[in-house]
Amino acid sequence: MDLSKAPYCEQDPQQNSQLVRALNDGTKKAKGDIKVKKTTFKIPGSPDGISVDSWRFQDWDYKKPNLPTYARGLFTTRNRRNDHEIAVRGYDKFFNVGEVFDTKWENIKRKTRGPYELTLKENGCIIFISGLEDETLLVCSKHSTGDRSDVEVSHASAGEKWVNKQLATIGKTREDFARELRRRNITAVAELCDDDFEEHILAYGPDKAGLYLHGINVNIPEFMTYPSHLVQQFADEWGFRKVDLESFDDIETVKDFLEKVAESGAHGGRDVEGFVVRCGISSDAEQTQYNDWFFKYKFEEPYLMYRQWRECTKSLISGKPPRFKKHTKITEEYLLYARKRLAQDPKMSKLYSQNHGIIALRDDFLAYKNMKGSEAANFENIFGNDTSSVSGDVVLVPIATIGCGKTTVGVALSHLFGWGIVQNDNIQGKGRPARLVQAVMSLLVDHPVVIADRNNSERREREQIIKDVLIQHKNARLVGLNFTHGDIDEVRRVTRERVLKRGDNHQTIQAASDENKVIGIMENFISRFQPCDPDSGPDVGFDLVIDLDPAQGSRVNVEKVVTELRKKYPLLIPTMPSAEDLDAAVKGAIEDYTPSIKHQIPDRTSKREQKRSEIQHSQDPKKKKPLEYMSISVPAKEVNVTLESAFKGADPLVQRFYKQLQQTRRIQSLFHVTLMHRVTAQQHPELWQRYTALAAESQVDGKVGECEVILERVVFDDRIMAIVVRLLDPDEKWTCVNKVAHITVGTRDNGVKPKESNDLLARWLDIGSGGDTGISERIFEGKPTLKGTVRGVLSR
Ligand code: GTP
Ligand code: MG
Repeated sequence: MDLSKAPYCEQDPQQNSQLVRALNDGTKKAKGDIKVKKTTFKIPGSPDGISVDSWRFQDWDYKKPNLPTYARGLFTTRNRRNDHEIAVRGYDKFFNVGEVFDTKWENIKRKTRGPYELTLKENGCIIFISGLEDETLLVCSKHSTGDRSDVEVSHASAGEKWVNKQLATIGKTREDFARELRRRNITAVAELCDDDFEEHILAYGPDKAGLYLHGINVNIPEFMTYPSHLVQQFADEWGFRKVDLESFDDIETVKDFLEKVAESGAHGGRDVEGFVVRCGISSDAEQTQYNDWFFKYKFEEPYLMYRQWRECTKSLISGKPPRFKKHTKITEEYLLYARKRLAQDPKMSKLYSQNHGIIALRDDFLAYKNMKGSEAANFENIFGNDTSSVSGDVVLVPIATIGCGKTTVGVALSHLFGWGIVQNDNIQGKGRPARLVQAVMSLLVDHPVVIADRNNSERREREQIIKDVLIQHKNARLVGLNFTHGDIDEVRRVTRERVLKRGDNHQTIQAASDENKVIGIMENFISRFQPCDPDSGPDVGFDLVIDLDPAQGSRVNVEKVVTELRKKYPLLIPTMPSAEDLDAAVKGAIEDYTPSIKHQIPDRTSKREQKRSEIQHSQDPKKKKPLEYMSISVPAKEVNVTLESAFKGADPLVQRFYKQLQQTRRIQSLFHVTLMHRVTAQQHPELWQRYTALAAESQVDGKVGECEVILERVVFDDRIMAIVVRLLDPDEKWTCVNKVAHITVGTRDNGVKPKESNDLLARWLDIGSGGDTGISERIFEGKPTLKGTVRGVLSR
């Protein structure tokens, strides 16, 4: 056994604590910065009661330089000496060929060295296994461990069962395995493939199910991983299944091999998803030093067609019209076949919806057609499809809210291809919807593609544009640019940040002039947003829907639009623009764009509220005004919900003042915790200096950081109401100079100033509530924690 020659490196507590600090910082950062999500898990059965923290970046951040680590899947813990320790270390995030700079073939050729080890990209879910200090065996999925309340069997616990099973067959205990992993300071990385648990696209019957060990990483921040032959030895020793391995010495052979397999999408007699290639990459120009490095090569087809078939079959079963935009002809045939088979065998549908029998049905169809998967995927290319001859009359219709990048994407496309763009914001006066369509139609005369730049966030707006275009031109094709709103908080964050940064550089949304009004308008659009559903309602009128992620940035989105359009209508975009062209077009659209007109639109919030929020928040970033106070603003909606449920069902006497504030519209429209006000600068000169400096540096919206706020209770008399809060501020960055940190909810009338909350709370500390104190309080159930934004508010 040559495992003694395996790579080894001890953990360095100092380096680890640096790492954890950097990650922790990432959990608090905002705007443009790398954001980190931390989740803590208590490990059941750990004699020491150990808990681990999972750290997760957002997918796209792994493409950025200078991350504290690139480990995808990372858990840390504290050991008995209270040092930080890496408990689980995943692979460095790796990318598809062509996806990032390093994975362009020319760079792979230039910077990497063999041996190149190719493993099949196994197709299940990843499982990490390592040993904790107290000999507990830790089994995790990428970002989680243990049971979860929201699923029947979590990935981690399914993995756990397989580990137990395989250890039993080799007569070893979990402690044995934990000790071995710990001795080596490694994480075993395996793929859980088990059709009984969860069927993915590729088949893993009972004889093939289990944990496929594909890597072993040393638990340090840098990426150090075992060579494949040692992974395989280790797999044998500990009862894992092994992944197929091909090894090549030079990159040309690798490329040839991959391209050949890609033609068929199959290898070793079965369809595969792709390969992971392991090699070394030079970290310096002289190429003296190499680090372990992976990239992947994913096959597009027939894998993607299979996935489409699976989804369509599930739609059939649930009685929904199947949705598919690619491989139309062969998919229609497949569905005819599937429909018959499902009708013949009543049990099949139920099993299929539980992810059983997917592959069998597919294979039966291919056998019936006497085709291979690759041939079926190529069917359209041979027999043609109905969109391959489209060379014009295409209208791009965004489905979005404010600040998603509609104009940026549109302007970039028009730079690239000379396409037309109609901006709804440039149309003024009456009958705008019809006039928008009119403008689109006239541009269509001499442009193959026209972008109808409007939000179309509601279904009725989509219905209007689709109908009006098709009435005038029945052969026109409408394509939805669907800025998806799945992670609404993220969309809100990104778009607000952009719009507030854009300032007044817009026809109607002039954020620098009136920030609150703009946020109100944005919220309005978000609340009216009706997601695109290409299977029903007006959205079936789209010939193609391209899903975009507003948070991804316009560069990514433009490329996606171009690629998808080109796939569907090859004649529209005969050659794919180069990455440089795309870069330049988006850069131009972001940097050089100024609207041709500006106008005012009425705001939907009431005049009184506007005025009030102006007083509270108005600030013009251009004129540097002095800092008035430093505050943490918190989402109004959640505060209102919390208050509402605290008073619900309470004694009418207790409710009275709250109801009064509501009915007289004396509840603040925006809520904040004041950290420090200008008037106390002399008492805390250093702190005031720090806050002033921070506020001066703020780029957007006065924002200087984030801090979570726990709402504890609401305290009130018959003049004023305030929420007592606690700041979740582990690094003690945000000092609050008030005796009791609080949010003023509202005051009886203008004669009572919000700062009197301090007096109320001082009395409350002193004499408490109830009885004849004149003070009441309600404690919040569950003590909600809100995300807060720390910002400096400037004087008017
Ligand atoms: P409305 O017209 O207000 O509905 O917004 P929109 O959807 O047309 O968004 P727009 O293209 O104007 O983008 C909003 C702001 O974000 C503009 O100032 C853009 O320059 C900027 N922006 C767009 N895309 C990106 C991006 O990828 N990165 C960054 N940093 N800014 C972007
Ligand atoms: Mg716009």
